Amino acid sequence: MTTDNPLVEPSADRVAPPAVLVVFGASGDLTSRKLMPAIEQLAVRRLLPAAFAVVGVARTEMDDDDFRERMRTTVEKMGGGGDEAKHVWDAFAGSGAFRYVAGDYADPSTYEQLKGVLDELDRDRGTGGNRLYYLATPPATFPVIAEHLGAESLNTPWRDDAFVRVVIEKPFGHDQASAAELDEVVHRSFEESQVYRIDHYLGKETVQNVLALRFANAIFEPVWNRRYVDHVQVTVAESLGVGHRGSFYEQAGALRDIVQNHVMQVLALTMMEPPATFDPDAIRDEKVKALRAVTPFGRQDVVTDVVRGQYRAGWVEGEEVLSYRQEEGVHPHSLRETYVAMKLHVDNWRWAGVPFYVRTGKRLPKRVTEVAMTFKDVPHLPFASEQAEGLEPDALVLRIQPDEGITLRFGAKVPGQAFRVRSVSMDFFYGAAFLEEPPEAYERLLLDALVGDPTLFIRSDEVAQAWRICDPLLAAWEEDDVPLARYESGTWGPAEAHELLARDGRRWRRP
Ligand code: BG6
Repeated sequence: MTTDNPLVEPSADRVAPPAVLVVFGASGDLTSRKLMPAIEQLAVRRLLPAAFAVVGVARTEMDDDDFRERMRTTVEKMGGGGDEAKHVWDAFAGSGAFRYVAGDYADPSTYEQLKGVLDELDRDRGTGGNRLYYLATPPATFPVIAEHLGAESLNTPWRDDAFVRVVIEKPFGHDQASAAELDEVVHRSFEESQVYRIDHYLGKETVQNVLALRFANAIFEPVWNRRYVDHVQVTVAESLGVGHRGSFYEQAGALRDIVQNHVMQVLALTMMEPPATFDPDAIRDEKVKALRAVTPFGRQDVVTDVVRGQYRAGWVEGEEVLSYRQEEGVHPHSLRETYVAMKLHVDNWRWAGVPFYVRTGKRLPKRVTEVAMTFKDVPHLPFASEQAEGLEPDALVLRIQPDEGITLRFGAKVPGQAFRVRSVSMDFFYGAAFLEEPPEAYERLLLDALVGDPTLFIRSDEVAQAWRICDPLLAAWEEDDVPLARYESGTWGPAEAHELLARDGRRWRRP
């Protein structure tokens, strides 16, 4: 077992080793919005060593000073703020920790330049030959960059005690076949143990808390199965639209953008068997086994058990918003889905017969991610039905965001002379129980990649399983076999999605 496992070692003990973080796509959105603020916070928490440097690589012409200045502006806007953060950042940036290489990703000279900079940093800053490459670039460039890193021998450490790792952003491929092709190219340059496929949902504290809840308590696991659970609902709702990412979204859609990765990861943690240890591979083995047990969608299931939708104009959180087809970069007759709802079945002893309903969408009434487990009714209710009018099935809801926490819904007697029962809730709020601010997802995951802990990264076989589940939907939609249901922005999705549950005598929760 690795001693750096975050699930085993308290995070305060984990400090990044000397290293260079090489960010491909350094002038892009992800670098500004997520990576630099994460670096700032790691620095503020004193989790980065003095021998640490960031090298930005991108096509934009800039020199080291421009890059440093740009990153400073970025963290001022997107970072934690405050005097201490500013002080720590200025000290870090002022020490020559920022370097920049301008060049095309397909041009070997970019990598020659990079090599020169890395050698200088090892010599002058003591970064020890350790490198973490971060591919924060459009997916089409992943193979090109991986190949060139290999061709320029930047894929292996020049010292025996050093590491070279590569973090690859989602989406990993656009279907199962392309993910396998990408794997093949990446594996020509890197061993699987060097590859860290990131899904920022796994960096969220509350997603990790699914493991804590299930495996650190004796009371939940005995009922976490088909004997007690009626059905499970996973909701990933967003109030935002596609914003300026219209042209990206036209390629991706909700299935590739959210379901194949974030939803599948949350599902895997919910469905998996208890691992024997918290060793990275023990956990990932169980996740893969769970995903493998998901029944593949047949041609007919894609029509009956899946709904794809797209938002029309409407009102969200008091603001009038455009329809998807009016968004910048979107085709006026686009059939791209911004909403998906589906019913999944899991063929194993634990879950046989328990439907997993999943929904995700943009421009829904609010931003909320949750896993809700609804329990079966009692075998016999010893009251008259009018005494239990306000009684809903027991439920356990894991609120991943916002208002992070857990709610247990159960029946209680209404005070008074009469015997009436209705549902009440018992709530646990993270914010109230723990005073410490949890690290942001990217902060946690960057530190994990630097210390060499792959537990919260996605293994190649997990990616393949997630695509296996999604591929039949993509194929059917490609052939236009399934109608696109349109929904008004600010509503909980198309009527067809409500029908999907109503048919089974159930309804979606109102989170
Ligand atoms: C990203 C998707 O992976 O996750 C975005 O590309 C989405 O479309 C985002 O908005 C949601 O992440 P979070 O952390 O805000 O739930």
